[in-house]
Amino acid sequence: MAKQRQWRQNARMAPASTLRRRFHILTLLLSLSLPLGCAAERDHSWTIDARRYAVAADHPDASAAGAEILAMGGNAVDAAVATSFALAVVRPESCGLGGGGFMLIHRKGMAPVGLDYREQAPAGIRRDLYRDANGNPDPMRIQRGGLSVGVPGTVRGLLHALEAYGSGRVTRAQIIAPAIRLANRALVVDAHLAESIESFREAAEKDPAIARRFRELRQALIDSDGRARTRVDRSSMAITLEAIADRGADGFCDGEIARNIVRAVRNDGGVMTREDLAAYRVREVTPLRGSYLGHDVIGMPPPSSGGAVILETLNILHALDDDRIRAAYDWDYIGNNRSSAPPGLSRYAVNLSDPESMWGLYAHLLIESMKPAFADRATLLGDASPNVAADVAGMLDPARAKRIAEGIDERHAAPWTRYDKGSLAAIDGGTSHLSVIDADGMAVACTESVNLLFGSRILAPDTGVILNDTMDDFALDTTTPNAFGLRQSERNIVRAGARPLSSMSPTIVLKDGDVRLVVGASGGPRIITSTLQTLLHVVVGDRRVNDAVAEPRLHQQWLPDIVYVQPTMRDGVRAKLTQRGHTLKERKDIGHVQAIERLADGSLRAACDPMKGGRPAGK
Ligand code: DON
Repeated sequence: MAKQRQWRQNARMAPASTLRRRFHILTLLLSLSLPLGCAAERDHSWTIDARRYAVAADHPDASAAGAEILAMGGNAVDAAVATSFALAVVRPESCGLGGGGFMLIHRKGMAPVGLDYREQAPAGIRRDLYRDANGNPDPMRIQRGGLSVGVPGTVRGLLHALEAYGSGRVTRAQIIAPAIRLANRALVVDAHLAESIESFREAAEKDPAIARRFRELRQALIDSDGRARTRVDRSSMAITLEAIADRGADGFCDGEIARNIVRAVRNDGGVMTREDLAAYRVREVTPLRGSYLGHDVIGMPPPSSGGAVILETLNILHALDDDRIRAAYDWDYIGNNRSSAPPGLSRYAVNLSDPESMWGLYAHLLIESMKPAFADRATLLGDASPNVAADVAGMLDPARAKRIAEGIDERHAAPWTRYDKGSLAAIDGGTSHLSVIDADGMAVACTESVNLLFGSRILAPDTGVILNDTMDDFALDTTTPNAFGLRQSERNIVRAGARPLSSMSPTIVLKDGDVRLVVGASGGPRIITSTLQTLLHVVVGDRRVNDAVAEPRLHQQWLPDIVYVQPTMRDGVRAKLTQRGHTLKERKDIGHVQAIERLADGSLRAACDPMKGGRPAGK
């Protein structure tokens, strides 16, 4: 009994202490990066309740830009586009006009739509460009600089969204106006940007060649005394945004801005041309759909891997038995006070008279379900363009999920080799997610990226545009992991004109046809696992989103065969995972989630991950 009480107390206390610790880190960083007197900036609240509409972006000014458009009568797409343009100004480390993304749109009475404006390999790309003098793959060529830049899709993607799905009640100029306002005042460096600048400053200090090569970015972020700036001038971005407001996509893909972008990329050894920029097209795609515990889950198809991995994991969890998952969830997160032993549970190995044996069972089953899904990501997926196959149907076959579930042992971790198909040889960065729900229940989940922090590190002069390094999301070969340690098959090998596989996972969950949850994250492959865990907190645990985004998360991506856990993960869970044969490693960040839920009475609750410093807006 005493153990039980202690347990419940832990379960109640842990989230609060998590939040306190995160708050402490944030206030510490803010106090380092902001001049005294900016006390208002320290007020940090990552959740709001709203009656009509809400926007959750990972920067407060970006959420406010979206809410401003909703207040003017715009719909969720208008607001998402305004939020994204604002993010291009205030989150230069994470996303922007030099990158790409995915947008998922739900409107009642319309089939859900996915927009793929992912970066694309320039026509002149060849695999051998990424080899060093000895013919070996050189990850540095694909991770930074001119050859790492994919043809950006964000501007065309956002404008396409607006034209095809906007309300028509707000003009393009009105939608871009909040971003232009933000660009015209110096950007106050917040904790996330400060950490990002610091990592660039350290790299440039260690290697003067980096400082010389990425001079434009260095001058923008670091002052002449070598100190990280606390305010960043974004006024050249205002000029670029004005060109887009005036001339639409041509303002970006044609003329002076396009010339500056292409010149900057080619001066650093890249092969992108003006023709690449002019030829880029947004793809409208049919989203993937699945169901779990009475909810419809909608995700992006390839080249996003997020939808397929999330849906395959949910299929395996379902095949593991819904009652068992619910009961195991309650043990790990709530205490066993909610579900008395469900009838199905006695069929399994856990000993119900020994509560201790339940610890970590949910985490274990989740990890064991994610592992084969990530192995499939590595071996079965690539761009879904006509010349690249992606075996999504194979991944989502329920019979396969059942077979995998039957092979999962609740006492032992499966070795990664179980899911090795022999197709591979042996062995936080820059993204931003935003969620919107409007007063009519229309929903947008949108994730955008420049890949690693500040992308390729190329800041095109006079444009404010930082170019992505998304080419690193391709595989150079099947043995070399990318910057996120992901190994991938021939299906995702770099090739001209293709779009690289992505972990970005904008997700919309419906209940009886109405939006229940809009969710997504940043954080490389951890996007998939953090989005999935937030969804499970809401769907399995019936938790509110503000709790869901703040709970400690775990991450497993098949290879490396390691389970990453956040420092605040409960001791009982950790101990039992180790006992089952998982190798654990602590990791501070496991994705940054931005989510909005719609409750049964139609009201909204929005939450921004406290780790990135976002704040929702709404009414
Ligand atoms: O599309 C992808 O999978 C990567 N470009 C995402 C990179 C990322 O999330 C970096 N971190 N925040």
